[in-house]
This record gives sequence, C-alpha cells and structure tokens, in this order.
Amino acid sequence: MSDPQRPRASLRTAVVWEVLKDALERRAKAAGREPGAAEGAEHGAHGAHGALDVLDTGGGSGNFAVPVARLGHRVTVVDPSPNALFALERRAAEAGVADRVRGVQGDAHGLFDVVERGGHDVVLCHGVLEYMDDPAEGLRNAADALRPAGTLSVLAAGLGGAVLARALAGHFTEARQALTSPEGRWGDGDPVPRRFTADQLSELVAAAGLEIAAVHGVRVFADLVPGVLVDTEPGALDALLRLEEAAAELPAFHSVATQLHVLAERD
Ligand SMILES: C[S@@+](CC[C@H](N)C(=O)[O-])C[C@H]1O[C@@H](n2cnc3c(N)ncnc32)[C@H](O)[C@@H]1O
Repeated sequence: MSDPQRPRASLRTAVVWEVLKDALERRAKAAGREPGAAEGAEHGAHGAHGALDVLDTGGGSGNFAVPVARLGHRVTVVDPSPNALFALERRAAEAGVADRVRGVQGDAHGLFDVVERGGHDVVLCHGVLEYMDDPAEGLRNAADALRPAGTLSVLAAGLGGAVLARALAGHFTEARQALTSPEGRWGDGDPVPRRFTADQLSELVAAAGLEIAAVHGVRVFADLVPGVLVDTEPGALDALLRLEEAAAELPAFHSVATQLHVLAERD
C-alpha cells in the first residue's frame, strides 16, 4: 500500500487524503479543539487534547490509519487479516504513533463484536466494500459506529474506470463484460469482486441514514497515463496531481474514475 506522504505514491491517494484531512480538521474544530492542542484543554466526549476517535474498517496495514494518527488522532483499525494487522503494528511503531493506533482482528459485518456502537467521530471505509458479502450492511454498521455529527469516509472501486482501462488496453470483450455484469467485473481473473457507479455508492451511503457531503472521482487519469511520462518529464507529477484534484469534484469525471470517494455525515 502506498504512503500518502511519498510523492509518486501520492498519485493514488492525494485526492482522498486532502479531502480526509480537511474533514478531520473540520470535525476537530466542531468538537471545539485542535488535534495536539495544549495540555489542560477541556476533556469531553472527544477526549484529551482534541484528538478524534477514528475507526478504520478494513484498514489493512495502515495506509490511512498511520497518517491519520500522525495528525494526532486515535485510530482503531478493524481488519480480518492477521498479516495486515502485524504490518500495521510495525508501520505505526516506525512512524512513532504506536500509542495512537490499535489493531483489532474483526470483520465489518460483525463490527460491534469488537468496537463500540456510536463511539467514533470519524469512520473510514476505504477499499473494503468491494470485498464484503453485503456492502449495504457494511455501510450501516459503519454509520452506526459514528457519534452524532460524525463523518464517514468511503472509498470504493469505480465501474467506469475499470471499463475504460480494459478498453484502452485492447481488452474490448472484458470491458463490455465489466459494463454489463451486475458486479462490474471484467471476468473470472478480475481480482476485484465488485465495483460501483457514483449513484450506486451514494444510494448505499444514503440508505445507511447519512447525509452526503461530497463525492470525488479518484485516479481519473493516473492509471491511464504511461508511467514514463510522469517519471521523466520535469514537473509532470505535480501537474498531474493538480489535474486530478481539479477533475475530482466534477460529476462528469466520476463516471470514468478508478475509485470513488464519498464523504457523508450523521445528523
Ligand atoms: C484493498 S485493502 C484496503 C486497505 C486500507 N483500507 C487502504 O485503503 O489502504 C482491503 C482490506 O479489507 C480487508 N477486508 C476484507 N474483507 C473485510 C471485511 N469483511 N471486513 C473488514 N475488512 C475486510 C482486507 O483484509 C484488507 O486489509
């Protein structure tokens, strides 16, 4: 998994990371304090020093959890994979945030066997709905894990991006299969079990009882551009990052994005 702090890898995560960072900042301000604020700050539902309680369902090895902890927040990662949790522990220790990252073996379907209902300011559900037997139930659990006025961040594979990528690679039959199959898969060899359109993902989030605050298309161009262009042209990476940011908010580009990001809030 990439690290949002590293430049080349940031192409995969930059848009989500910027949206998420802003959302965390807004949530911390709404809670009345900044992360890492002075000792003696008022302790309340959000704990000491303004740190938020963040839950990362299917958080894996901490691609987002560790950078979020570096902002000063407390992160609980729930993931069924012991290997991912082991990697998370090592990564958190290397980043010096082991005291703020807790890995718990568990499943988003049985989320409340391992975490508290209604106990989190922000819940991340990144790259996991695709792998769940029942994404609607996964999102309902994610929503129920939020405190009132909490924020949900959902990232999932986009259908149109996969269709476009298969077509541009000359795999036209696979592209059509992805377009027409109910799960948006291009064939038996497709490693992704399920993809979503922006409407499908938004409807699932709304059905979980949340208000949608923003939808972004992620990796609209990054996966289609030959790597050599980005790596060898001076300034190309920065220019591509800025282009991704500009396109991310525009609904016209959501239908061809590799991933879709939905930010939503609980009343
Ligand atoms: C593609 S990785 C995404 C990891 C991380 N969220 C990120 O964005 O980098 C998918 C993760 O979902 C986890 N996963 C798969 N099925 C799950 C389920 N039913 N509940 C919770 N996590 C699950 C996997 O173990 C894996 O770590």
